[in-house]
Amino acid sequence: MSTGEPSGGPVLRLGPETHLLVTGGAGFIGSCFVREVLARRDGTRITVLDKLTYAGSEENLAPVRADPEQAARFRFVRGDIADPEAVRPLVAEADAVLNFAAESHVDRSILDPEAFLRTGVIGVHVLLEACRGEYERAAAGERGRPPRFLQVSTDEVYGSIEVGVATEETPLAPRSPYAAAKAAGELLVRAYHVTYGLDVVITRGANTYGPYQHPEKLIPLFLTNALESEPLPLYGDGLQRRDWLYVTDHAGAIEHVLRFGEPGGIYNLPGSGERTNREVVAALLDLLERPWSLVRSVPDRPGHDRRYAMDGARLAALGWRNRVSFEEGLRRTVDWFRANEAWWRAMRSGDWAAYYERQYGARLAAGRPVEPPVEEPVGPMGRAKAAGGSGPRGGSAEGDVPGGR
Ligand code: NAD
Ligand code: DAU
Repeated sequence: MSTGEPSGGPVLRLGPETHLLVTGGAGFIGSCFVREVLARRDGTRITVLDKLTYAGSEENLAPVRADPEQAARFRFVRGDIADPEAVRPLVAEADAVLNFAAESHVDRSILDPEAFLRTGVIGVHVLLEACRGEYERAAAGERGRPPRFLQVSTDEVYGSIEVGVATEETPLAPRSPYAAAKAAGELLVRAYHVTYGLDVVITRGANTYGPYQHPEKLIPLFLTNALESEPLPLYGDGLQRRDWLYVTDHAGAIEHVLRFGEPGGIYNLPGSGERTNREVVAALLDLLERPWSLVRSVPDRPGHDRRYAMDGARLAALGWRNRVSFEEGLRRTVDWFRANEAWWRAMRSGDWAAYYERQYGARLAAGRPVEPPVEEPVGPMGRAKAAGGSGPRGGSAEGDVPGGR
């Protein structure tokens, strides 16, 4: 998946000698990483440790199980990263640990923060302690090189970036329980590097979208609701801005940092297109050929971050470029959800109805229609733009170019 190699060569080589422990590997981004690495058939072995919360599903790993060569290099263990007994023996076998496991939905963190802290802070601590034990075993000659640890973090740790972009040196200012738990988790990771000398890397990814994303998140929620002709609950004025990263680019950048990242290094993983939520929804409805009248403006998310935006120079210097533009990624996502109705219907079962009512019942009752986007005439600089598209770096051609920063 890497697109360029720094001159110093990899810190970690993947191949027949390498065994990765991927925690949270039955979720959206983790399962993409597992599918992509195993499909390359370079001999790398992967163990997934996943608690299978409402967000995880073994179905996400079905393509691996369906292929005998990949299945032979893959093992699934159901368990909790906050359980030292489950974690220790798996870390003991690993050359690297990649921690994708988290409660990942901001709205749920506002309803019920506790699980976010248990997995995001205690769980990370348990994984780090198990790695520290492996350093002691290595020092005693009981194993070879101890494991590299990669923590999958998020751009939300910077809080809302009203103008400009966050670099890796920008102070952390998380504003939701989810983001605060993610910041606490990565600070622990950094502390274990400084205090105990663990080889760690941290990635801070942008808003990710694509196949297999749980339908609680903006793009798959609005996509599946639109297919059902149900209302689309747009928070507030819909002019919040996110920088969208296609899931294979996120997984690929994580692999690149795993292989080439400097010990102790922190890497922003920006997306390939900053958009307002209104622009995202308009593009989605266009592809689905569904009317704008489905969109309802509903009371806002408390503490809603207005904008996320990151500088990607450090990742670019490491040799990584995103490959998938927002337009291409959205098209692929729509095609996948259309073709995989059984998958998303299963994800919208169980506690879905209760969650939906709690999150959206009163909001939708108070919802109002939203003015449709006004098409601007196509000028010499390019296509017409949806309303609300202006702002810092808004709707620029640069944002449309894969890795264009
Ligand atoms: P997800 O919710 O789809 O998947 C999370 C997975 O972790 C699920 O399979 C779940 O069962 C598992 N899990 C949860 N708690 C666990 C525990 N205690 N022990 C073991 N497994 C557990 O999340 P995602 O969107 O794939 O996000 C993966 C990671 O990437 C998270 O750490 C998230 O914070 C981070 N991230 C996500 C995005 C995004 O836009 N989705 C962007 C940047 C960073
Ligand atoms: O930026 C990275 C983060 O992106 C990840 O760390 C999180 O795990 C991931 O969930 C995501 O967080 P967001 O809060 O940005 O994503 P979400 O899909 O929940 O919302 C995207 C935007 O859409 C945000 O401005 C809120 C808005 N929104 C969302 C939902 C679910 C709505 O307007 N209506 C909705 O119903």
